[in-house]
Amino acid sequence: MSASRLRPLIAGNWKMNGSRAQTEALVQDLKGRLASQPGLAADLLVCPPAPYVAQAAALTAGSALAVGGQDCHAKQSGAHTGDVSAAMLADAGGRYVIVGHSERRADHGEGSELVAAKAKAAHEAGLIAIVCVGETEAERDRGATLDVISSQLEGSVPADAEAANLVIAYEPVWAIGTGRTPTPEDVATVHAHIRGLLKAWFKDGPEMRILYGGSVKGSNAGSLMHVPEVNGALVGGASLKAEEFWAIALAAAGA
Ligand code: 13P
Repeated sequence: MSASRLRPLIAGNWKMNGSRAQTEALVQDLKGRLASQPGLAADLLVCPPAPYVAQAAALTAGSALAVGGQDCHAKQSGAHTGDVSAAMLADAGGRYVIVGHSERRADHGEGSELVAAKAKAAHEAGLIAIVCVGETEAERDRGATLDVISSQLEGSVPADAEAANLVIAYEPVWAIGTGRTPTPEDVATVHAHIRGLLKAWFKDGPEMRILYGGSVKGSNAGSLMHVPEVNGALVGGASLKAEEFWAIALAAAGA
């Protein structure tokens, strides 16, 4: 199978949004859509805030909709007030966890070494880690995008990664929540670069999924999801609306 034909993953990062009622409504809506289209050629994932992971996982039991967390600690338990471990997310029914999101890198000063430790903890707990990388606008303007991506990836991807437990998300910081997106050509350049590194580092690098994230919505998913080496999307704002999220899934699946 060529890397560009990997089964797409459409992941919803709800960020710090939602409630019990909204979790119930959104998950039930997506479950219904999935049930009505069982042959959909894409995997669907929702990542609610930590308090709603168990609720979402219980609601999705028996459905193809997967649930994940938005962050985890690098340790599985201990004196870390306020933190959530990968083991807890797995115990709550989660299958994935996002690590190294640019909002955590910026808001919590997380560096790539910590992100790699979190991804390793995710793997040890049996979770699939979605490792995020992306350049800022200033880095892009000075032509440093590929260098930034190389060094973030090199630092953030643990050596024990394999296609079954690692997904990369390329999220240009300047495209998150702004309505701006890179051109399909720019996305192709960065994704090809990431693919080259994964192939050089891992035997199954060709099978590791590389998602694009940053202002993905139903209306631009068609052009972004068919860029070579784009194997799905990490969706923020549009993942809070079932209709939009579903439209992205349909575009990625070519349905
Ligand atoms: P938006 O889709 O809201 O731009 O957010 C992207 C993102 O950060 C997903 O992790």
